[in-house]
Amino acid sequence: MRVLVTGGAGYIGSHTVVRLVEDGHEPVVLDSFVNSRPSVIARLEELTGRTIETHSFDLRDVDKTNALLDDGRFDAVIHFAGLKAVGESSQIPLEYYDNNVGSTLVLARAMDRAGVPVLVFSSSATVYGELAPVPYVETHEPLASNNPYGRTKLVQEMLLSDVATAGGPRVALLRYFNPVGAHPSGRIGEDPHGVPNNLMPFIAQVAVGRREQLQVFGNDYPTPDGTPQRDYLHVVDLAEGHVAALEYLSDHPDVVERAWNLGGGHGTSVLEMIAAFESASGRPIPHEVAPRRTGDLAAFWADASRAETELGWRAERSIEQMCADTWRWQSGNPQGYPG
Ligand code: NAD
Ligand code: UD1
Repeated sequence: MRVLVTGGAGYIGSHTVVRLVEDGHEPVVLDSFVNSRPSVIARLEELTGRTIETHSFDLRDVDKTNALLDDGRFDAVIHFAGLKAVGESSQIPLEYYDNNVGSTLVLARAMDRAGVPVLVFSSSATVYGELAPVPYVETHEPLASNNPYGRTKLVQEMLLSDVATAGGPRVALLRYFNPVGAHPSGRIGEDPHGVPNNLMPFIAQVAVGRREQLQVFGNDYPTPDGTPQRDYLHVVDLAEGHVAALEYLSDHPDVVERAWNLGGGHGTSVLEMIAAFESASGRPIPHEVAPRRTGDLAAFWADASRAETELGWRAERSIEQMCADTWRWQSGNPQGYPG
């Protein structure tokens, strides 16, 4: 399949581009590089041995997006493009709604008019809200989120479901848990701008000496060691989940819209993650306990059985592999991508 990958230069998109080529598909990248670097593309070409067709513009540009979809002969789109920092989304909610919902609206309209039949969308476990029982199941209702970023995901899920039900592109809503890790080559990985918001890139930057110490946001949660538990999954497993969903929708024209959890199905605590990274890197991770971060939940993980039954997908890679691959990427690229 010839597949447009919006946000294909980003963290998850770049790993998915590699996997698409490995599985015999032809990815085309569309990215504005608002949160990634053009030098990613050279790394993708090095890893795949292919020229990666790349379009550099903002998806909200209606004319350019329509022109690309009209002429592109795409069989499907995987839509990663969007802003994703939870804290920032509370400070600049208009920018988040504009970018996330706005780009999805433009994309859905362009796909509809060009007749591109299949869309795979990046959603998030954040749509289950604070009250859903753990493990999270796709059938849980009502969906909710406690932050503007999460609410843009909810709006996008509803928008895409409505469009699909009305005969537009059929859609896979992939609800990711906590993607971490890097390609085993160490050539692509997560490269956040500024201070990392998330645990794994922060730990990796402490290990490599870019930051002095990690703050552990609370150790008085009702969990075995007092620190929150999350469902971490390797980004290469996640990339494989996208290809599985793409192929499933293409093979099942009767499926109009479907949500799948992509997670490992069990929780790992902050302290367990620190210990695993120290062991993988051979470096100490200095850390201190700090106050809780507003909005954090004690523990959640996926019931990933629907993806296993229907897509034949499960997260295979261990916490040790996630740490080892993150360390290979971070130690080989201490300042991230060049340029
Ligand atoms: P990322 O920021 O690394 O990648 C997103 C890419 O989209 C970037 O390259 C950015 O330049 C591009 N982009 C943003 N807005 C754009 C626009 N309007 N037009 C064109 N390009 C644009 O993020 P990621 O971690 O790879 O996440 C990808 C998707 O998965 C996002 O939608 C995110 O919300 C979702 N998601 C991520 C996580 C996570 O923990 N990383 C968890 C759940 C869901
Ligand atoms: C974050 C997002 C969530 C998103 C998810 C996807 C927030 C508030 N939530 O959640 O919406 O779906 O990523 O990956 O950003 N931690 C520390 N010190 C740090 C950083 C994190 O102790 O410097 C702790 C956090 O308190 C949390 C755990 O590590 O308990 C994981 O944090 P993080 O990687 O940000 O993921 P989530 O909290 O699951």
